Amino acid sequence: MTPADTLQADLLPEIEAAPSLDSLEAIRVHALGKSGSVTALLKSLGKATPEERQTLGPAYNALRETVTAAIAARRATLDAAALTAKLAAERQDMTLPVHAAARGRIHPVSQVLDELTEIFADMGFAVATGPEIEDEWHNFSALNIPEDHPARAMHDTFYFPTQFAGEGGRKLLRTHTSPVQIRTMLSQKPPIRIIAPGRVYRADSDATHTPMFHQIEALVIDRGLHMGHLKWTIETFLKAFFESESIDLRFFPSFFPFTEPSADVQVGYAIENGVLKIGGKGSWLEVMGAGMVHPRVLEACGLDPDEWQGFAFGTGVDRLAMLKYGITDLRAMFDGDARWLDHYGFDPQSVPTLSGGVGA
Ligand code: PHE
Repeated sequence: MTPADTLQADLLPEIEAAPSLDSLEAIRVHALGKSGSVTALLKSLGKATPEERQTLGPAYNALRETVTAAIAARRATLDAAALTAKLAAERQDMTLPVHAAARGRIHPVSQVLDELTEIFADMGFAVATGPEIEDEWHNFSALNIPEDHPARAMHDTFYFPTQFAGEGGRKLLRTHTSPVQIRTMLSQKPPIRIIAPGRVYRADSDATHTPMFHQIEALVIDRGLHMGHLKWTIETFLKAFFESESIDLRFFPSFFPFTEPSADVQVGYAIENGVLKIGGKGSWLEVMGAGMVHPRVLEACGLDPDEWQGFAFGTGVDRLAMLKYGITDLRAMFDGDARWLDHYGFDPQSVPTLSGGVGA
């Protein structure tokens, strides 16, 4: 055996058996590196006679190529094995069901607030918020409800002790979401398109009233707005919310100090098997207050009523949830009874019903 044959016989099994990329690299350095064994053989050609070089030269070069190729092949095998191991370790079975016993449900009010936000976002409305502890000016005066106006008494307001009164008068728990209209008009330049969902408070408690409940307000301020815009928006919203094209709407003359003209919006319903069904015919249910923003409200917010018009509406979120999901008792909504929530609540892992959008 020539020295090249001996070296090849040593190296190839070693390369073949290299257990890792690191050990393979060590073998490569020992064989092909600057002071490697194959390199040493090639260097020894310098001392050989021209005749010897004729046979040894091609043999040593062939050895180098064989060893280089063997290392490359082993590296490819080890790389592939490493990738397979990594993939196996990171594998997740996407067909496995999620933990079926997960506890916790989404409250119908939260679900409905998500749905409302999604519907209005689709129509280009942003969400606005305001404080639940308001003052008289934002909750009443700026909304054209002066101090001696009977509408103030109608609101069953929770007032804070007078020692907390400030520039805006007495502090109170907001009785509706309409003060967010004022805060928005004062802090943003028109055109404005917002909804304001949130908690409101009135000192009222019986089968159909709780001292805390939820409203959602919508406000649009722009040039050239009229009742037609208001009507279209409400109609589009209610059809999307109740997921029905066949909803009958009726606008009834009404009064709110902050809108002129004002309307109560009523939807047609029927009782089917003892259950109230929106979209049916025969009876009417009042679902929201609405109207064109009163010029005096615009003025209170520094807007010129000759340039800007607005429309607004407000509705009870809890009522909407009850109507859509067949909940009969308002008070049970806020009892915090886990059995009630198990029954009426929503799976946190389910996709909101309206993610297809209003147009879908
Ligand atoms: N804020 C009114 C209420 O609580 C509802 C409403 C809002 C009416 C906006 C007209 C416009 O009853």
